[in-house]
Order: sequence, then structure tokens, then C-alpha cells
Amino acid sequence: MLFEDTASYEGVDPDDYKVMRYGVHGTPTTFAFEQAVAELEGGYAAVALPSGLAAITAAMCTYAKHGTHLLVTDSAYGPARRFCDKRLIANGVEVEYYDPLLGSDIERLLRPNTCAVYCEAPGSMTFEMQDIPAIAEVAHAHGLPVLADNTWGTPYFFRAFERGVDVSIHAGTKYIAGHSDTMIGAIVTNERHWLPVRRTVADFGMCVSPDDCWLALRGLRTIGVRMQHQMQSAAVVARFLAAHPRVSRVLYPALETDPGHALWKRDFDGAASLFGVVLKPATEASVIALIDSLALFGIGSSWGGYESLAIRGKMITRSASRWQPEGPLIRIHVGLEHPDDLIADLEQGLARLIAS
Ligand SMILES: Cc1ncc(COP(=O)(O)O)c(C=O)c1O
Repeated sequence: MLFEDTASYEGVDPDDYKVMRYGVHGTPTTFAFEQAVAELEGGYAAVALPSGLAAITAAMCTYAKHGTHLLVTDSAYGPARRFCDKRLIANGVEVEYYDPLLGSDIERLLRPNTCAVYCEAPGSMTFEMQDIPAIAEVAHAHGLPVLADNTWGTPYFFRAFERGVDVSIHAGTKYIAGHSDTMIGAIVTNERHWLPVRRTVADFGMCVSPDDCWLALRGLRTIGVRMQHQMQSAAVVARFLAAHPRVSRVLYPALETDPGHALWKRDFDGAASLFGVVLKPATEASVIALIDSLALFGIGSSWGGYESLAIRGKMITRSASRWQPEGPLIRIHVGLEHPDDLIADLEQGLARLIAS
């Protein structure tokens, strides 16, 4: 980026992150992506980051400093938890995990040095819903910001700012980009939290290439049709699974039988096509055989794309709540394939399960 003259070079406001001045702060393509995400979600402004995890860590580091206390939901995305345990605690932050089912009762966990409350609804792998408006009411009464990983809800299905979130975090790698072909993250904030968050991202020197922003912007243009379609297919597949004799329960707030259904119905405009399935007790080898036999479900982590996925839900850490499933957990992502084909594939896979 070159400037017309010295006056325009030296006259740039360092807190103006919407003008071209230096590549790390963005290009017109970055700004177009950021503006589109912020508008869709109803936030004040957004900043693009190189991954969803980068968005999580930058958001946390805005508030969590040496000597502060950060409340983090026990159901947080595994690598977010690892960042807290390995980095924040080593840097003198008191990280406290809380039961995701706590609503306004979170008040009793607040300390004079609490800096923020971090949420994720539904939880990674286990899909517990959180009462974010109740948590936000308490947090705001104490002057604290609410940070939320809104990757599952997306800016399209969860209007985070209307529910009390101050800083909404997205792995744009998932439904926003939507085609499993780019890594990108985004943080959307309300006006009050914009500059603190944006300055943190600048301090870390995190930025995204215009090509990745362009892919994510193109993905964003079809997020509505993709998510509506995938939600409908996911409901069909989830209902099939819930009724299957080898399945104990399906962890999906969009199902009426889910304990989080009422909260989901109240707060969300739709559901992502990602859910958990707790099987009846089965041998480990037969669960692996089930997954490996699937022809239409890829085996991989990064959900939110066009293709269906299935993985085992392992290594779930809990310190403030209980997670004791009665059988093995698998996580399903429903893509754009026809649900009848997905069901036929799952049917043959489930037949491989051997009771234990
Ligand atoms: C809920 C959630 N948040 C954040 C992330 C991190 O996103 P990324 O893979 O872009 O770092 C993931 C990735 O799986 C996720 O599932």
C-alpha cells in the first residue's frame, strides 16, 4: 500500500481499521468480508482471523490478563480449553470452568477479578444448550462482557447480540466458508467491545489473505440456502437415528426430546446440521467398523461444509459437570447429500455394531 503524500501517510488514525494502510490490517476484500459477517449477525463490526481457534484465543486474550479470573464453559471446544490450560494459566490467569447448564446461578462464581464469561452453545461434542441471555444479564449487571463461540449457531441462525453476547466468535472455516476449502475465523463485537478486540488482533499481527476472505465471502452468499437445507436433512437423519434400536440418544437441541430444546427454540432461528449420537454399549472395534464402513460420510474434523462426516467423540474433558455417556459417542455432520442415501449408509453401518 502506497500513499499519495506524507500528509495522507502520517494522517492515518491508528484506530481506524476500515481503511487501507498496511496489509496486516486488511485489504478491501477483508473489509468486505468483515462488513458482511457483522451485518448478518447484527453486530457493530467484525475482524477476520486466520482460523476459528485464532478468533477464540484473540478474544480471550483481550480480557484475560495476569491476575484476572476467566469463567469458561465446561463444554468448550477442546482446543479452546487446551489454550486456557496451557497458555492462560501459565500466564497467571485464573481459569475456572463452569457447568454449562448454569444460567443466572453463574453469579455465585463471580469474583472481584472476574474479567469475562466465555460461552459456547451448544457445547462441542456434547451439545448441551446454555441459557446465554440469563448468563448475560448477570454478567452485564457486574459490568462483565460475554464472549461466545457461535460457530454452531452461525451469524445466520443465532442473533448473538440480541441474546446478550458482546463478543461473538466464529470458525468461518465451517458454515461461513461452507465448502471445506479455507481456514478463517471472525470476531464480531458490539460497539463497546470493538476497539479492545480489534487492537488485540492488531497486536498479535494476525491477518487473513484476501484470497481466503474472498472464499469466505463467496460462501457467506449461500449460507442461508445451505443451512436451511442441511437443517432439514439433519432433522430427518437425527430422527432416524433416535428411533434406531442400537442408538441410546441423539444429542441435538433441535429435537423435541433434547433437554436443551426449549432454550434452542427460544433463542435460535435454526439449527446447524451437527449433532452427537450416543450408541447403546458396543465394542470399540465395532464402532470403528461402523464409521469406516460409511461410504457417504467422510472421516474428518472440519464440519460445516457440503459433505457429511462421522467421527468418534473421544477425549472429552469435564471438571465442573458430568459427562458419562451410557455408550460410545459419535459425531455426525449432515452435508448436502440426500438424507435417504445418508440413512441407507448409516443403516448398513449400524448393523456392524456388536453389543458389549
Ligand atoms: C465449535 C468450534 N469452534 C472453533 C473451532 C476452530 O475452528 P478452526 O478449525 O477454524 O480453528 C472449531 C473447529 O472444529 C469448532 O468446532
